Amino acid sequence: MARTPYVGGNWKMNTNGVSGVELAANVARAADDAVQVAVFPPFPYLIRVGEALAGSGVMLGAQDVSDQDDGAYTGEISTAMLLDCGVKTVLVGHSERRHVIGESDELCNSKVLKALSAGLDVVLCVGEKLEEREAGQTDAVNERQIRAGLAGVSAADMARVTIAYEPVWAIGTGKTATPADAQDAHAKIRTLLASMYDQSVADGVRIQYGGSVKPANAAELFACPDIDGGLIGGASLKADDFAAICQAATASAV
Ligand code: PGA
Repeated sequence: MARTPYVGGNWKMNTNGVSGVELAANVARAADDAVQVAVFPPFPYLIRVGEALAGSGVMLGAQDVSDQDDGAYTGEISTAMLLDCGVKTVLVGHSERRHVIGESDELCNSKVLKALSAGLDVVLCVGEKLEEREAGQTDAVNERQIRAGLAGVSAADMARVTIAYEPVWAIGTGKTATPADAQDAHAKIRTLLASMYDQSVADGVRIQYGGSVKPANAAELFACPDIDGGLIGGASLKADDFAAICQAATASAV
Protein backbone atom coordinates (compact mmCIF):
# COMPACT_ATOMS: atom_id res chain seq x y z
CA MET A 1 0.00 0.00 0.00
CA ALA A 2 1.33 3.44 -0.87
CA ARG A 3 1.66 5.50 2.25
CA THR A 4 2.17 9.27 2.03
CA PRO A 5 5.52 10.00 3.69
CA TYR A 6 5.32 12.09 6.83
CA VAL A 7 8.09 14.36 8.12
CA GLY A 8 7.80 16.04 11.51
CA GLY A 9 9.99 18.80 12.91
CA ASN A 10 10.31 18.49 16.69
CA TRP A 11 11.73 21.85 17.78
CA LYS A 12 12.02 20.72 21.42
CA MET A 13 12.86 23.62 23.79
CA ASN A 14 14.36 25.75 21.03
CA THR A 15 13.46 28.89 19.02
CA ASN A 16 11.81 32.06 20.28
CA GLY A 17 8.78 34.01 19.13
CA VAL A 18 10.60 35.65 16.24
CA SER A 19 12.79 32.76 15.07
CA GLY A 20 9.94 30.26 15.42
CA VAL A 21 7.64 32.27 13.17
CA GLU A 22 10.41 32.77 10.64
CA LEU A 23 11.22 29.05 10.64
CA ALA A 24 7.53 28.16 10.25
CA ALA A 25 7.15 30.56 7.34
CA ASN A 26 10.13 28.93 5.62
CA VAL A 27 8.75 25.45 6.24
CA ALA A 28 5.39 26.56 4.84
CA ARG A 29 7.05 27.93 1.69
CA ALA A 30 9.02 24.74 1.09
CA ALA A 31 6.18 22.25 1.70
CA ASP A 32 4.71 20.30 -1.18
CA ASP A 33 1.68 18.03 -1.42
CA ALA A 34 3.56 14.76 -1.89
CA VAL A 35 4.63 14.69 1.76
CA GLN A 36 2.75 15.34 4.96
CA VAL A 37 4.72 17.83 7.04
CA ALA A 38 4.15 18.84 10.67
CA VAL A 39 6.04 21.09 13.05
CA PHE A 40 6.02 20.75 16.83
CA PRO A 41 7.00 24.13 18.31
CA PRO A 42 7.18 24.94 22.02
CA PHE A 43 3.75 25.60 23.57
CA PRO A 44 4.07 29.41 23.91
CA TYR A 45 4.56 29.83 20.16
CA LEU A 46 1.79 27.54 18.93
CA ILE A 47 -0.62 30.31 17.98
CA ARG A 48 1.94 32.47 16.20
CA VAL A 49 3.45 29.49 14.40
CA GLY A 50 -0.05 28.37 13.41
CA GLU A 51 -0.65 31.79 11.86
CA ALA A 52 2.61 31.53 9.93
CA LEU A 53 1.55 28.10 8.60
CA ALA A 54 -1.98 29.19 7.60
CA GLY A 55 -3.01 27.91 4.18
CA SER A 56 0.16 25.86 3.69
CA GLY A 57 -1.00 22.34 4.53
CA VAL A 58 1.76 22.02 7.16
CA MET A 59 0.20 20.58 10.30
CA LEU A 60 0.60 22.28 13.66
CA GLY A 61 1.66 19.83 16.35
CA ALA A 62 2.39 19.95 20.08
CA GLN A 63 5.27 18.18 21.80
CA ASP A 64 3.16 16.78 24.61
CA VAL A 65 -0.36 16.78 26.04
CA SER A 66 -1.97 16.16 29.42
CA ASP A 67 -4.02 13.03 29.97
CA GLN A 68 -6.42 15.10 32.12
CA ASP A 69 -9.29 17.30 30.93
CA ASP A 70 -8.80 20.29 33.23
CA GLY A 71 -8.30 21.23 36.85
CA ALA A 72 -5.46 21.43 39.34
CA TYR A 73 -2.57 20.18 37.19
CA THR A 74 -0.02 22.98 37.37
CA GLY A 75 2.00 23.33 34.20
CA GLU A 76 -0.03 20.84 32.17
CA ILE A 77 -1.71 21.60 28.82
CA SER A 78 -5.04 19.98 27.92
CA THR A 79 -6.34 18.70 24.60
CA ALA A 80 -8.99 21.47 24.62
CA MET A 81 -6.29 24.14 25.00
CA LEU A 82 -4.29 22.63 22.15
CA LEU A 83 -7.35 22.45 19.90
CA ASP A 84 -8.05 26.07 20.79
CA CYS A 85 -4.56 26.96 19.52
CA GLY A 86 -5.16 25.18 16.21
CA VAL A 87 -3.14 22.07 17.04
CA LYS A 88 -3.95 18.96 14.97
CA THR A 89 -1.46 16.40 16.25
CA VAL A 90 0.62 15.64 19.33
CA LEU A 91 3.79 13.75 20.14
CA VAL A 92 3.38 11.20 22.90
CA GLY A 93 6.17 9.33 24.62
CA HIS A 94 9.15 11.12 23.11
CA SER A 95 12.27 9.54 24.59
CA GLU A 96 13.16 12.76 26.41
CA ARG A 97 9.81 12.60 28.19
CA ARG A 98 10.13 8.88 28.90
CA HIS A 99 13.74 8.87 30.02
CA VAL A 100 14.51 12.40 31.23
CA ILE A 101 11.13 13.31 32.71
CA GLY A 102 10.15 9.75 33.63
CA GLU A 103 6.88 9.11 31.80
CA SER A 104 5.67 5.52 32.02
CA ASP A 105 4.12 3.36 29.31
CA GLU A 106 0.82 3.66 31.20
CA LEU A 107 0.92 7.48 31.19
CA CYS A 108 1.77 7.46 27.48
CA ASN A 109 -1.24 5.23 26.85
CA SER A 110 -3.48 7.53 28.83
CA LYS A 111 -2.26 10.50 26.76
CA VAL A 112 -2.77 8.60 23.48
CA LEU A 113 -6.36 7.75 24.42
CA LYS A 114 -7.09 11.30 25.60
CA ALA A 115 -5.66 12.88 22.46
CA LEU A 116 -7.50 10.52 20.09
CA SER A 117 -10.80 10.97 21.90
CA ALA A 118 -10.39 14.75 21.59
CA GLY A 119 -9.93 14.42 17.81
CA LEU A 120 -6.18 15.00 17.73
CA ASP A 121 -3.79 12.85 15.71
CA VAL A 122 -0.98 11.15 17.63
CA VAL A 123 2.66 10.39 16.91
CA LEU A 124 3.61 7.68 19.42
CA CYS A 125 7.38 7.61 19.87
CA VAL A 126 9.14 4.37 20.80
CA GLY A 127 12.69 3.11 20.81
CA GLU A 128 15.39 1.33 22.75
CA LYS A 129 18.22 2.71 24.86
CA LEU A 130 21.82 1.80 24.04
CA GLU A 131 22.10 -0.86 26.74
CA GLU A 132 18.85 -2.41 25.54
CA ARG A 133 20.15 -2.51 21.98
CA GLU A 134 23.40 -4.08 23.10
CA ALA A 135 21.42 -6.68 25.04
CA GLY A 136 19.47 -7.57 21.87
CA GLN A 137 16.23 -6.12 23.25
CA THR A 138 15.39 -3.61 20.49
CA ASP A 139 12.33 -5.44 19.20
CA ALA A 140 11.13 -6.39 22.68
CA VAL A 141 11.30 -2.77 23.87
CA ASN A 142 9.46 -1.54 20.77
CA GLU A 143 6.82 -4.24 21.25
CA ARG A 144 6.32 -3.40 24.92
CA GLN A 145 6.04 0.34 24.27
CA ILE A 146 3.67 -0.14 21.31
CA ARG A 147 1.40 -2.70 22.99
CA ALA A 148 1.19 -0.57 26.13
CA GLY A 149 0.94 2.74 24.29
CA LEU A 150 -1.86 1.56 22.00
CA ALA A 151 -3.88 -0.39 24.59
CA GLY A 152 -7.54 0.37 23.96
CA VAL A 153 -6.95 2.13 20.62
CA SER A 154 -9.45 0.92 18.02
CA ALA A 155 -8.54 -0.14 14.50
CA ALA A 156 -10.51 2.85 13.19
CA ASP A 157 -8.51 5.27 15.35
CA MET A 158 -5.24 3.79 14.07
CA ALA A 159 -5.85 5.89 10.93
CA ARG A 160 -4.87 8.87 13.14
CA VAL A 161 -1.83 7.24 14.73
CA THR A 162 1.76 7.41 13.48
CA ILE A 163 4.59 5.49 15.12
CA ALA A 164 8.00 7.17 15.39
CA TYR A 165 10.79 4.66 15.91
CA GLU A 166 13.61 6.60 17.52
CA PRO A 167 16.49 4.60 18.99
CA VAL A 168 17.39 6.63 22.07
CA TRP A 169 21.12 6.33 21.44
CA ALA A 170 20.65 7.99 18.02
CA ILE A 171 18.76 11.06 19.22
CA GLY A 172 20.83 14.22 19.15
CA THR A 173 24.04 12.21 19.12
CA GLY A 174 24.96 12.30 15.43
CA LYS A 175 24.72 8.48 15.43
CA THR A 176 22.09 7.04 13.10
CA ALA A 177 20.83 3.51 12.79
CA THR A 178 21.97 2.02 9.51
CA PRO A 179 19.17 1.95 6.96
CA ALA A 180 19.21 -1.86 7.22
CA ASP A 181 18.88 -1.83 11.03
CA ALA A 182 16.18 0.83 10.92
CA GLN A 183 14.28 -1.04 8.19
CA ASP A 184 14.48 -4.24 10.23
CA ALA A 185 13.01 -2.53 13.30
CA HIS A 186 10.29 -0.87 11.21
CA ALA A 187 9.33 -4.13 9.50
CA LYS A 188 9.03 -5.84 12.89
CA ILE A 189 6.85 -2.98 14.15
CA ARG A 190 4.58 -3.37 11.12
CA THR A 191 4.33 -7.12 11.70
CA LEU A 192 3.45 -6.41 15.32
CA LEU A 193 0.71 -3.97 14.24
CA ALA A 194 -0.68 -6.64 11.89
CA SER A 195 -0.88 -9.08 14.79
CA MET A 196 -2.49 -6.49 17.10
CA TYR A 197 -4.96 -5.27 14.44
CA ASP A 198 -4.89 -6.66 10.92
CA GLN A 199 -2.77 -6.37 7.79
CA SER A 200 -4.68 -3.46 6.33
CA VAL A 201 -4.24 -1.41 9.52
CA ALA A 202 -0.55 -2.30 9.59
CA ASP A 203 -0.17 -1.38 5.92
CA GLY A 204 -1.76 2.01 6.50
CA VAL A 205 0.20 3.19 9.55
CA ARG A 206 3.11 5.52 8.86
CA ILE A 207 6.26 4.56 10.78
CA GLN A 208 8.73 7.44 10.96
CA TYR A 209 12.40 7.01 11.75
CA GLY A 210 13.99 9.49 14.14
CA GLY A 211 17.49 9.98 15.46
CA SER A 212 20.05 12.27 13.83
CA VAL A 213 18.30 12.38 10.45
CA LYS A 214 20.13 14.89 8.25
CA PRO A 215 19.97 15.88 4.57
CA ALA A 216 22.98 13.58 4.02
CA ASN A 217 21.31 10.41 5.34
CA ALA A 218 17.59 11.07 4.80
CA ALA A 219 17.35 9.67 1.27
CA GLU A 220 18.83 6.26 2.09
CA LEU A 221 16.67 5.92 5.20
CA PHE A 222 13.45 7.00 3.45
CA ALA A 223 14.15 4.65 0.54
CA CYS A 224 13.58 1.67 2.87
CA PRO A 225 10.15 0.11 2.26
CA ASP A 226 8.88 0.38 5.85
CA ILE A 227 10.32 3.83 6.64
CA ASP A 228 7.64 6.40 5.91
CA GLY A 229 9.48 9.63 6.64
CA GLY A 230 11.09 10.92 9.79
CA LEU A 231 10.79 12.77 13.05
CA ILE A 232 13.53 15.37 12.97
CA GLY A 233 15.03 17.20 15.93
CA GLY A 234 18.22 19.21 15.43
CA ALA A 235 17.97 19.43 11.63
CA SER A 236 14.39 20.74 11.84
CA LEU A 237 15.72 23.98 13.33
CA LYS A 238 17.50 24.84 10.09
CA ALA A 239 14.97 25.69 7.38
CA ASP A 240 17.24 24.58 4.53
CA ASP A 241 18.10 21.26 6.15
CA PHE A 242 14.49 20.53 6.99
CA ALA A 243 13.44 21.41 3.42
CA ALA A 244 16.12 19.07 2.05
CA ILE A 245 14.86 16.26 4.31
CA CYS A 246 11.29 16.88 3.14
CA GLN A 247 12.54 16.73 -0.46
CA ALA A 248 14.17 13.37 0.26
CA ALA A 249 10.78 12.18 1.50
CA THR A 250 9.13 13.50 -1.66
CA ALA A 251 11.65 11.63 -3.77
CA SER A 252 10.98 8.43 -1.81
CA ALA A 253 7.28 8.73 -2.62
CA VAL A 254 7.79 8.61 -6.37
P1 PGA B 1 17.51 14.51 16.46
O1 PGA B 1 16.17 14.34 17.35
O2 PGA B 1 17.07 14.58 15.03
O3 PGA B 1 18.13 15.80 16.96
O4 PGA B 1 18.36 13.32 16.74
C1 PGA B 1 15.15 13.50 16.92
C2 PGA B 1 14.01 13.53 17.91
O5 PGA B 1 14.27 13.65 19.11
O6 PGA B 1 12.83 13.43 17.54
